[in-house]
Amino acid sequence: MICRSKLAVMISAVAVSAMFVACNDRAEEKAQSKAQPAAETAAQPAVSKSVVVYFSQTGTTKKLAGVMKQAVNADEIELKLVTPYPSTYDSTIAVVGAQRESKQWPALENAKLDLAKYDTVYLGYPIMFGSFAPPIYSFLDSNDLSGKVVVPFCTYGSGGRKASAAELKTLEPNANVTLAMGVSNKRMTRDDGDSIAKVEVETFLANLAAGKTDEMLMGGYSEQRPLTAEDSAVFVAATKDYAYLNLTPLSVSTQVVAGMNYLFLCEMKAFGGAAVQTNVKVFKPLPGRGEPELIVVEK
Ligand SMILES: Cc1cc2nc3c(=O)[nH]c(=O)nc-3n(C[C@H](O)[C@H](O)[C@H](O)COP(=O)(O)O)c2cc1C
Repeated sequence: MICRSKLAVMISAVAVSAMFVACNDRAEEKAQSKAQPAAETAAQPAVSKSVVVYFSQTGTTKKLAGVMKQAVNADEIELKLVTPYPSTYDSTIAVVGAQRESKQWPALENAKLDLAKYDTVYLGYPIMFGSFAPPIYSFLDSNDLSGKVVVPFCTYGSGGRKASAAELKTLEPNANVTLAMGVSNKRMTRDDGDSIAKVEVETFLANLAAGKTDEMLMGGYSEQRPLTAEDSAVFVAATKDYAYLNLTPLSVSTQVVAGMNYLFLCEMKAFGGAAVQTNVKVFKPLPGRGEPELIVVEK
């Protein structure tokens, strides 16, 4: 994690950086609009070499995809199921569970896409059963991503960003799968979800342009130490809606930002399963600016 002031510097650096091809469209556009009168710029729209391809069942990933599209000046394609998932959570769990069990991936209305003109595919999905939603397998089965930059982004209940990106790398060994981004459903659907999404996307693109890895993003925290009563109170407040994960914090490290980032090393027995250790990221805003919130369970 990096502090917000550093991020602001990095974000402005993205606009002038040519380091990452996917961010170039926007930087070029900005540079052009400075150098040319508006009418001329409008007469010569840039041809996008990036596309945002996404699946969304209930609209959360769709919202994030819209923000991503704006930020990188990409085309956008929504993957549509021939037979949509049921409208209730429990029924969807049953259908998706059966699809995963049988590896029978659902038919898409638009399975085969014309991706030849794109060098970068921003691939968005909800996390389902710990990795990307089944329609993404259908998309991967029908399209060749070899040689393309693939930028994964997701929304989730508690996490799955890393595991889904790792699976994508395995399934697409000839694509350049980059650092992945993710935002929790809870944060995306807050009243200020749009601005949260914008900040998350800008931060992510800056990290991507700077060549940051997940390991580098975990830097800047203090050493892990035993919890104080205050740390425990922060943990309880942030995880009160995640009882099903059965999280027990073992130790914590912190990072001062505009507020405080916490990295709790926890024992997790999700849905009463076997105990595993995991990192739980929590953000506590400055006093008077809201309650501590769970950012992600790293998995
Ligand atoms: C069938 C199903 C399985 C899910 N599995 C997970 C999961 O394993 N981990 C998780 O963090 N969230 C999980 N979720 C929550 C979704 O990832 C989350 O609600 C997401 O924001 C939905 O995105 P959408 O609105 O674009 O469909 C699951 C949701 C459904 C419906």
